[in-house]
Amino acid sequence: MKIKLKSIRKEYRRRNEYSPIEFVTGRVKEVSSMLEKANKFGIPINRLEYELEDIAGIRVMCQFVDDIETVVQLLRKRTDMQILYEKDYVTNGKPSGYRSYHMIIKYPVNMAEGQKEILAEFQIRTLSMNFWATIEHSLNYKYKQEIPSEIKNKLRNAADAAFQLDEGMLEIKEEIKDAQKLFEVKSDVISNIMNNILTLSSLGKIAEASRYQLLLNKLIEEGDVWEFNNLLHSIQRDIEKYDN
Ligand code: GTP
Ligand code: MG
Repeated sequence: MKIKLKSIRKEYRRRNEYSPIEFVTGRVKEVSSMLEKANKFGIPINRLEYELEDIAGIRVMCQFVDDIETVVQLLRKRTDMQILYEKDYVTNGKPSGYRSYHMIIKYPVNMAEGQKEILAEFQIRTLSMNFWATIEHSLNYKYKQEIPSEIKNKLRNAADAAFQLDEGMLEIKEEIKDAQKLFEVKSDVISNIMNNILTLSSLGKIAEASRYQLLLNKLIEEGDVWEFNNLLHSIQRDIEKYDN
């Protein structure tokens, strides 16, 4: 599942489109955490795989809050898994300050003995929600769930700040997307120019190749997309001239 979601990101990137998925991680719950939870809820060991919904966990990180909804829609459309239920802690954060969108799913895996359905938990969140949850989780670990109230307050303030950060970034989303797109287009053109310079060299046009290399080096500092494009076109015209 992790690989499938990573490839969705790649698909967007290949099409030069914005990806609502920034990155994906997955983990299997540590045996110690499984036992801890089993003890806490009195779950017999042989029932763990049916009772623990988050033995397998997948986290999807998004750049912007509204990407979470896009990812949720995308997951709802999948035919290779079944959604059991969803919890929206994005709209309604937990008292701790925790925010994320959760989905519990049933996912068929093919084992040696045949097909088996396993439970898994999706957590879909922004980078800032992830930052907060990761820090808070490690504090919970240190204080064994009993975080001193002073630190709890600080964490809640930090959660508010994380919320503000997400809201602020959302307001300039289009601006940020444009900048990211510009960067990608520019690096595409630059790698195209480099390939063409190599082609020129391999055609034996060494002097031409170094002339273009110099021009490119000059542009790298402060050239805009338009200038890089011009350089690309002129080198392409040269190659057509020589390559026949
Ligand atoms: P579990 O007993 O772990 O299932 O917690 P829950 O039932 O109160 O919450 P839920 O099932 O909605 O969330 C499950 C997972 O979400 C947890 O295993 C954590 O990974 C994450 N989570 C939920 N609440 C918090 C929180 O307050 N802080 C952090 N850091 N993570 C949380
Ligand atoms: Mg739970």
